[in-house]
Amino acid sequence: MTAQKDLASPPQKYDSMPDPQKLLLECEEAPKITDRLNIFPFDWRVETPRLMEVYESSRDPGWSPSQLPWDTLDMEGMTLDQRYAIAYWFTLLSVFDASGPAVFARAMIHAYETHEEDAIRKCFLSVTRDEMNHEEVCGRVITALTPNGPLGYEPQTELGRLARNNIEWLYHNGARYWNGYKVAVEHYPMPILFSSFLFGEVASSTLFHSMYERTTIPVLKEAFRNIGRDEGRHLSFCLALLKEVLPKMSEEEKNTVTKQFRAGFIFLSGILFEPPSEFWQLPPTFLPAQRMIEEVARSAGLGIMDLEERKANWRTAVVRLKTIVEPHGVKFPALPEIDVDGEDVDFDCDKIVPIF
Ligand SMILES: [Fe+2]
Ligand SMILES: [Fe+2]
Repeated sequence: MTAQKDLASPPQKYDSMPDPQKLLLECEEAPKITDRLNIFPFDWRVETPRLMEVYESSRDPGWSPSQLPWDTLDMEGMTLDQRYAIAYWFTLLSVFDASGPAVFARAMIHAYETHEEDAIRKCFLSVTRDEMNHEEVCGRVITALTPNGPLGYEPQTELGRLARNNIEWLYHNGARYWNGYKVAVEHYPMPILFSSFLFGEVASSTLFHSMYERTTIPVLKEAFRNIGRDEGRHLSFCLALLKEVLPKMSEEEKNTVTKQFRAGFIFLSGILFEPPSEFWQLPPTFLPAQRMIEEVARSAGLGIMDLEERKANWRTAVVRLKTIVEPHGVKFPALPEIDVDGEDVDFDCDKIVPIF
């Protein structure tokens, strides 16, 4: 009863209902909509129906990292070095796969800012969701095998200390990638971004397929199978959009794609092959240490290919990409590292896009 006494009166009291006609006459014009950076969608147009179909099929990815049989990971059966080595490989993978959530979330925000079709916004959301699962797998493996890893623990062996040093260098290069990406995502139009993402997805589906086939640790094998399937779907997203946009690209845009492919190859070789110095800033101990670590991880059942197999596998993936884009008049860059002929191109190693 007392509460009512405390209620303030409304600022204005109307003694009749407002008259819409009268209100319309008194309407003030709203500020002109000129700011393209308003992120609210003005439409939900779908220009690429195939993208929407892939999005529908992604609503339920069909797996969850938390549901994998982690209790079967036999840590007691591994030496300390084997634990360090497997955790190391997942840290290397993290440079590409655990950057995924932020990379694609950023691309999604950009797609809102530039008012891309609804299907593109949704496809970036879906990839972001999947990448969060891939990041979670990296995190679970690293923290199970090296609690507080990748950096918050003290390695007890020489191999462990070498791995630690390599991880710090990987982190340095991952930071350089991210700085470049933030510029690139604003700089390039959507068709160029998608061409670059396509390279990442070709690389990742190839990598996870081989890891799935060769890994003998059951929970990791299962993780690779699921991640590989997600990456295949990401590849379908890219192909669906590129089928529409590649034929419409200008010559200048096509040349940019060629350069971006060279940049993507250099960056992705960091895990698909070996890291070229055009991008990767690494000390001379890095590669010999990594080769040793990989050998130990292999001995524990992680299906990392050896260098020759990697080269052949990477080449197969790249040739696959080449056959997708060349019919649309996009020239392929020369990749002498893996014996692929093509155009000699400069590229901007400060604006690298593709990731897993
Ligand atoms: Fe992906
Ligand atoms: Fe991924």
